[in-house]
Amino acid sequence: MLWFKTLLILLLSLLVQGIELNLNNSESIDSALSLVADGMLNYYAGKNYGGTIGMFVPPAYWWEAGAAFNGLLNRYLATGNDTYNMLTMQGMLHQIGDNSDYMPANYSTSEGNDDQAFWGLLAMSAAESNFTNPPPDEPQWLELAQAVFNQQVYRWDTGTCNGGLRWQITQFNHGYTYKNSVSNGAFFQLAARLGRYTGNQTFFEWADKVYNWSVAVGLVLDDYSVLDGKSTKDNCSAIELTQWTYNSGFYMAGSAFLYNATGSEVWKNRTSGFVDKAAEMFFYEYIVYEPACEVSATCNYDQTSFKGFLCRFMAYTAMLAPFTRETIEPYLKTTARAAATACSGGYDGVTCGNQWWWNNGTWDGLYGLGEQMSALEAIVAVPFMDAAPLYTHANGGSSTGDNMAGLYDDETSWAPPSYLPLNSILLLVLFWMPMLVI
Ligand SMILES: *[C@@H]1O[C@H](CO)[C@@H](O)[C@H](O)[C@H]1NC(C)=O
Ligand SMILES: *[C@@H]1O[C@H](CO)[C@@H](O)[C@H](O)[C@H]1NC(C)=O
Ligand SMILES: *[C@@H]1O[C@H](CO)[C@@H](O)[C@H](O)[C@H]1NC(C)=O
Ligand SMILES: *[C@@H]1O[C@H](CO)[C@@H](O)[C@H](O)[C@H]1NC(C)=O
Ligand SMILES: *[C@@H]1O[C@H](CO)[C@@H](O)[C@H](O)[C@H]1NC(C)=O
Ligand SMILES: *[C@@H]1O[C@H](CO)[C@@H](O)[C@H](O)[C@H]1NC(C)=O
Ligand SMILES: *[C@@H]1O[C@H](CO)[C@@H](O)[C@H](O)[C@H]1NC(C)=O
Ligand SMILES: *[C@@H]1O[C@H](CO)[C@@H](O)[C@H](O)[C@H]1NC(C)=O
Ligand SMILES: *[C@@H]1O[C@H](CO)[C@@H](O)[C@H](O)[C@H]1NC(C)=O
Ligand SMILES: *[C@@H]1O[C@H](CO)[C@@H](O)[C@H](O)[C@H]1NC(C)=O
Repeated sequence: MLWFKTLLILLLSLLVQGIELNLNNSESIDSALSLVADGMLNYYAGKNYGGTIGMFVPPAYWWEAGAAFNGLLNRYLATGNDTYNMLTMQGMLHQIGDNSDYMPANYSTSEGNDDQAFWGLLAMSAAESNFTNPPPDEPQWLELAQAVFNQQVYRWDTGTCNGGLRWQITQFNHGYTYKNSVSNGAFFQLAARLGRYTGNQTFFEWADKVYNWSVAVGLVLDDYSVLDGKSTKDNCSAIELTQWTYNSGFYMAGSAFLYNATGSEVWKNRTSGFVDKAAEMFFYEYIVYEPACEVSATCNYDQTSFKGFLCRFMAYTAMLAPFTRETIEPYLKTTARAAATACSGGYDGVTCGNQWWWNNGTWDGLYGLGEQMSALEAIVAVPFMDAAPLYTHANGGSSTGDNMAGLYDDETSWAPPSYLPLNSILLLVLFWMPMLVI
């Protein structure tokens, strides 16, 4: 029975060890990232026969794919490993939609402004890193980011709450009456990054405007807390108080991009403000966690990915606003180690969990796309702080833009529709027909 004991001990040690990660060693970092990225890509639909390119298997949301590709792109920028560049590029181009605006017909009826922004920010990341340009007959990265920006400018709604973006794009979705920090924070960051990349003042003005509105309406507080959202039904009087990690991250990195582009003390102070608040609010002994759902173990399928984006945005902040690096680095390093240790579950022994501070890094039994995405972002964040500087149009970025991107004639598919779209009516009829027969 000795062999059995040995096997058991071997298995157990596999289970508790987690992924080995030495942050002083770039090979160790990249091999840890390979395990986590490969785990994430187990959920990638595009690699299955007949699966959709650029989508992850259900119940994954469409936006998560855009977020996942950004994780893979940043992994390449941080480590130089280009294994998934082709897969990333294919996914990015397959999901642009018929009008090249990240409103693909399959998902547009359930698409929120935040969902579209995740893809717009991915396109922006590609432009900023001089990622391989699409073939000339395809829309270019900068153009795609501008398409998202232009449409969101159009959707800025002064009818209620003195401005702001609604969460959802179409009025039939739950959430159309909600103006929240993820949609507005992502739009703010997109405007900031377009401003830095192009130098065009219009983008800076919009970033300023969205930020001012977020403060005025009470989504961003004086102490740099970022609250979730407000309802248009009461003209944004009451507030939904929940604080999510990534909402803070959107405003933090947006401020850092603006600081980097302008050197302004206003944006410097705001950057520090968001960093200090996030450090206080979202870390337990230097390890990131999601206070809104993690302690109660009620995070849903995509909420498990949110804290990864805070890590991503803190890495951008440390890079672009170097005065924050000393503060940020210990948080990201401790978090990356804890995330790797907690990737110790599943039959393969390297499946990532959700609670990284918990029980000294033992796997908490949870698994999924969100857990893999978060761990990938957390580990990438450390080398990403030292990745090559992000380009602008003026210093090496070669992506070309189009000021009119996204503003095609047929407004109905991207503007809030005022009637039930034909395909929805057809679906409704098809759905109810069998019941009528019975
Ligand atoms: C990594 O380097 C730091 C400082 O250079 C050192 O304090 C730390 O012990 C090193 N860690 C490992 C695992 O080698
Ligand atoms: C690059 O990443 C791939 C997939 O994650 C991995 O198989 C490969 O070993 C990595 N290459 C290097 C040089 O680390
Ligand atoms: C839309 O769905 C169809 C059918 O599932 C699929 O073939 C197509 O690739 C999808 N398009 C996108 C952009 O995901
Ligand atoms: C809604 O609130 C804004 C301030 O946020 C105010 O300017 C506006 O007058 C209010 N509108 C209504 C209809 O009460
Ligand atoms: C934002 O508010 C500041 C004052 O806090 C003001 O100087 C600036 O003009 C405002 N920006 C926009 C675009 O409204
Ligand atoms: C930035 O913060 C410093 C220190 O708190 C303060 O002295 C300064 O007035 C602030 N600057 C601006 C432009 O808000
Ligand atoms: C936590 O894990 C570390 C390294 O894996 C180990 O050195 C330490 O003793 C553990 N602490 C507890 C309380 O189990
Ligand atoms: C802007 O970011 C780059 C890194 O991308 C950094 O080297 C530079 O110092 C930053 N600029 C300012 C004003 O901090
Ligand atoms: C950016 O990419 C273009 C096209 O591939 C290339 O010509 C250019 O040299 C690259 N710029 C930098 C700074 O590497
Ligand atoms: C600046 O950006 C705005 C918004 O996209 C656009 O309307 C304007 O034409 C741009 N200006 C220049 C000089 O490109």
